[in-house]
Amino acid sequence: MSNGISRRIEAFDGVGVITRYDRPTGTWIFICIHDDTLGSTTGGTRMRQYPEPADGLTDAMRLARGMTHKWAALGLPFGGAKAVLATSRPLVGEERTGLLERYGRLIESLGGIFATGEDLGTTPEDFAIITGQTSFVHGIHPETREKIDPGPFTARGVFHGMQAAVGEVFDGGLEGRTVMVQGAGHVGGRLVDLLHEAGASVLVTDIDGDAAESAAARVGGATVPAEDAYATDCDVYAPCAIGATLNAETIPLLRCRLVAGSANNQLAEPEDADRLHDRGIIYAPDYIINAGGALAFALLIGGETESEVLFTRMTDIGETVAEVLREAARSDESPVTAAGRRVERTLQEARGASQDD
Ligand code: PHE
Repeated sequence: MSNGISRRIEAFDGVGVITRYDRPTGTWIFICIHDDTLGSTTGGTRMRQYPEPADGLTDAMRLARGMTHKWAALGLPFGGAKAVLATSRPLVGEERTGLLERYGRLIESLGGIFATGEDLGTTPEDFAIITGQTSFVHGIHPETREKIDPGPFTARGVFHGMQAAVGEVFDGGLEGRTVMVQGAGHVGGRLVDLLHEAGASVLVTDIDGDAAESAAARVGGATVPAEDAYATDCDVYAPCAIGATLNAETIPLLRCRLVAGSANNQLAEPEDADRLHDRGIIYAPDYIINAGGALAFALLIGGETESEVLFTRMTDIGETVAEVLREAARSDESPVTAAGRRVERTLQEARGASQDD
């Protein structure tokens, strides 16, 4: 087995890990089941190349823990899990289809302890293939059987979360605020448009310079070189690309009042929450502000199919962010601490209730 994998599984604080090596494509599949207290476990499937397969496992474990927090913070009846397909090379065409079909059959064989949907590197088209093999896929319209893309819901949730956070911090709306969006991809790109519509001036940065240019051009905003992303003056910094962009090196550079974006696992380590708090920068916890896709899928399972209604419900994200920021402000603590308490309350109540049965 690849170096370090067994050690990492031993150290995992969750339920367990389902591991498979897909020989035809040289892909490691890791399905990390973190916590099933609130319901059957559900989380996205990420596909990418990692320096080592074990790094993919670590990513999946961290993301699975994030999903437990995400469902619990919003009071939704699902447990936390995440899957990573750690590929050995970019996969397209038949090779990709083959992997996705085998992955779909693996999920089916688990009998429903894990259900999944899109995450970084997987698309609604990929999920159309997976759905051919298993019914344990989130975001399928019950009548049309079409795969619904969570991205626009996530973007709308981040928008409402940011609006609420701006309201708490500046006592006003997004109008006239400068927002730096890092990552103009699937979610970040849409967020750029929503912010522009709300009257914010938008700065865009992306390691893909063309993506930054085209998003900025759409809204008459400016681009910022990737290396200046942290040290640029703005009101809000919105990390919408990879995780761990908030760390011991970047936090001292920041020149914003608020961090509110869609990326998962924005903090490199738990201490980064205190680093932000000590600098007086308000941080909207990632797993709450980026929960729009998860919320939309949960509502869909609950029978709500009108996309208008689903979009409107993304205001729930704004309300939750506002509640958490207020609780944190009252006790002069990091919003991460307040959000963690909210999650623990929900999990404890559920554990207590199941003991009463
Ligand atoms: N991947 C997204 C997230 O982490 C959306 C998603 C949620 C997909 C739940 C499937 C299940 O929130």
